Amino acid sequence: MINEKQCRQPTSTAKFPNSQMCLHNLINYFLFFGSGLVIGITLSIYLKDFPFNFPFKQFSVQTPPPILPPQSITRSTYPPQTTPAPAPPSPNPPPQPSLPPPLISLSSSYPYLTKKASRIGLKEYLKPPNAMHDMEDEELLWRASMVPRIHHYPFKRVPKVAFLFLTRGDLPLASLWEMFFKGHERLYSIYVHALPSFNGTVPENSVFHGRRIPSKEVEWGKVNMIQAERRLLANALLDFLNQRFVLLSESCIPIFNFSTVYSYLMGSDKTFVEAYDLVGPVGRGRYNKRMNPVIKLEQWRKGSQWFEMDRDLAVEVISDQKYFPIFERYCKPPCYSDEHYLPTLVSTRFWKRNSNRSLTWVDWSKGGPHPTRFYRTEVTIELLKKMRHGSHCEYNGKSTNVCFLFARKFLPNALVRLLRFAPKVLEFN
Ligand SMILES: *[C@@H]1O[C@H](CO)[C@@H](O)[C@H](O)[C@H]1NC(C)=O
Ligand SMILES: *[C@@H]1O[C@H](CO)[C@@H](O)[C@H](O)[C@H]1NC(C)=O
Ligand SMILES: *[C@@H]1O[C@H](CO)[C@@H](O)[C@H](O)[C@H]1NC(C)=O
Repeated sequence: MINEKQCRQPTSTAKFPNSQMCLHNLINYFLFFGSGLVIGITLSIYLKDFPFNFPFKQFSVQTPPPILPPQSITRSTYPPQTTPAPAPPSPNPPPQPSLPPPLISLSSSYPYLTKKASRIGLKEYLKPPNAMHDMEDEELLWRASMVPRIHHYPFKRVPKVAFLFLTRGDLPLASLWEMFFKGHERLYSIYVHALPSFNGTVPENSVFHGRRIPSKEVEWGKVNMIQAERRLLANALLDFLNQRFVLLSESCIPIFNFSTVYSYLMGSDKTFVEAYDLVGPVGRGRYNKRMNPVIKLEQWRKGSQWFEMDRDLAVEVISDQKYFPIFERYCKPPCYSDEHYLPTLVSTRFWKRNSNRSLTWVDWSKGGPHPTRFYRTEVTIELLKKMRHGSHCEYNGKSTNVCFLFARKFLPNALVRLLRFAPKVLEFN
């Protein structure tokens, strides 16, 4: 029944109070209510006889009654996870109301519709895929090339260093690396690109376990090696926490402890891609005139393939569509892509934030096309000290004698002595 208060309200604002107006309203309400009732009854009769599974019948089945607590809602609409004790079998089970199969599964498309208690945040989006996945290179590079344009992270982001191992097979110096990483979980991630033919296994308690990424053939010096490096970078980019990226080989070792490496990299205002201009057959001599005009002779650079870079540069490298095809076409032995691609790309386009030096110590003093390889007995305290502090360079605009964080090339039989010297000389603790 409409009371006086409701009837008066509009009249007091309209400022002509009379009973006629009130009667009018009353009739209108009844008319409106009556027609609604008729439509409702007609519809319900019609729908009951409707032979098809009507989408909103589906909704009405799945929509939980509002009185029930969330727990019983899930139970009532879905097979419970833990089945309750089965009822004693009766000879004549009561007929079950047979519901039509759902047209769409609401719960799988919109889990929040039923699981009201759990929050849908960024968790799933931020979770990197497994190291081993089935994305093709094209898919992987595309996905890794996404860059947020809002630079403030809406979550607590403790940046990590991504260690990218480009190997043929095993990591013979793995136990030294294990010692290096120990106690620093959550500050690093590891990615291993081994040759597809490598079938070795990694023990489950190793930091390298499950870190192999999908790989393709790599021929040293050929352009497929650059592709392998880009594959490593792209995989590591899928983890939003990775901020710095180091490329290493199976013969590389760390020469400082994790804390020093971490703060050196995170605190650096530069990337570490070695690049220099070398006149002569093994430098400018490897330039192909047909690379013109994309790459000019003055832009041609040489350097070590063992790089260190930040996230911004890593995204640029995996997104490059301009230089890579040129190298693919015109840099074939005796032009070695791994020695020229990154130095040239970075020096031409991203030189401002590059230091032009490498963080991986290597000994070329004996001459020839290959650097010195260190055998067991050649690993001495003096050698390690020389690698750690025997040079001068710039770091954030200041002079320093910490110029290298890694070193190569160490043979598998060097491991025992490295492990022995690591706690004291390399300050691994
Ligand atoms: C692994 O590969 C080697 C050759 O590279 C082969 O001799 C060996 O049988 C393979 N092992 C397994 C378990 O497939
Ligand atoms: C690195 O090399 C480029 C040229 O290739 C040069 O312009 C730049 O100043 C160099 N950067 C440093 C830090 O030496
Ligand atoms: C790591 O090495 C630095 C020197 O590079 C040293 O000062 C520090 O004490 C070492 N940290 C540990 C935990 O040994």
